[in-house]
Amino acid sequence: MCQHERVPEASPHEFATTVSTWYGEHARDLPWRGENVTAWEVLVSEIMLQQTPVQRVLPAYDAWLKRWPTPAALAKDSPGEAVRMWGKLGYPRRALRLHACAEAIAEHHAGIVPDDVEALLALPGIGAYTARAIATFAYGQRQPVVDTNVRRLIARAIDGTGDAGPTSTTRDLAAVERLLPAQPAAAARASIAFMELGALVCTARNPRCSACPVRSSCAWRLAGYPAYDGPTRPVQRFAGTDRQVRGLLMDVLRGADAPVPGSALDISWPDLDQRARALDALIADGLIDPLPDGRFALPAGRGDQRDPAASG
Ligand code: ADE
Repeated sequence: MCQHERVPEASPHEFATTVSTWYGEHARDLPWRGENVTAWEVLVSEIMLQQTPVQRVLPAYDAWLKRWPTPAALAKDSPGEAVRMWGKLGYPRRALRLHACAEAIAEHHAGIVPDDVEALLALPGIGAYTARAIATFAYGQRQPVVDTNVRRLIARAIDGTGDAGPTSTTRDLAAVERLLPAQPAAAARASIAFMELGALVCTARNPRCSACPVRSSCAWRLAGYPAYDGPTRPVQRFAGTDRQVRGLLMDVLRGADAPVPGSALDISWPDLDQRARALDALIADGLIDPLPDGRFALPAGRGDQRDPAASG
């Protein structure tokens, strides 16, 4: 009789249990993961973590929540203050979205972050990932929470490919949902555990397979680590890009306690065309207000009245 090699295959239930146990022993102790974290704290952390590494988010998260511990507190301040407070976290449109979110929560949800995925998705700037992350990490629901790290973990451990292909929200959500335990608290723990394993062990470059709790059933390992041969994303450079120039212009406005003249912006970057393009983009995004007197300011709130006597 032909002896087939037995391929160990973890059931979805075993996979989640093994990763959750690993999480209990290896997870980072991060402030947005505590027992008594509010849904607003989870929301703020998720928006900050979207495009910024954990170590840079930590001090900004602390300062933000000290100043605005609730959505209502932030909604009372101007979007310009949110942009100023965002500091050097990058991609400052997130500050405007967080402010708009706070206003929507204050106006339409009595100041309470909603717990329903559909209601969360209806908030400004909240997409498929963030809505489910809030429902799961703040409210303990059973929802597939799929970020880049989870997509890569599933692509490797379950599908046996070196990386995930292009995003497909429906397919990605279904692939992760299948792996979640039935009980909501266990599912929520599995969700954060998948993210952490992808972030710490099943990393894009140099995965630490010897430290991986699911290495014995990992389809990628069992297939001999085939290289990923699907479409790749271009590597983003920063130096000299319009994004860098936009950051420099925002630095000038954040550092000023009053609107600034155009000449204050001119010194931030030598290339006139690029500077003008960056300024136009910031104005179009609502991150900078051009004032009638020719000066520039961080955005005022809807109810904010600028003191006309202060211009001149
Ligand atoms: N914990 C919860 N959400 C997280 C995220 N997006 N990144 C890192 N840790 C997290």
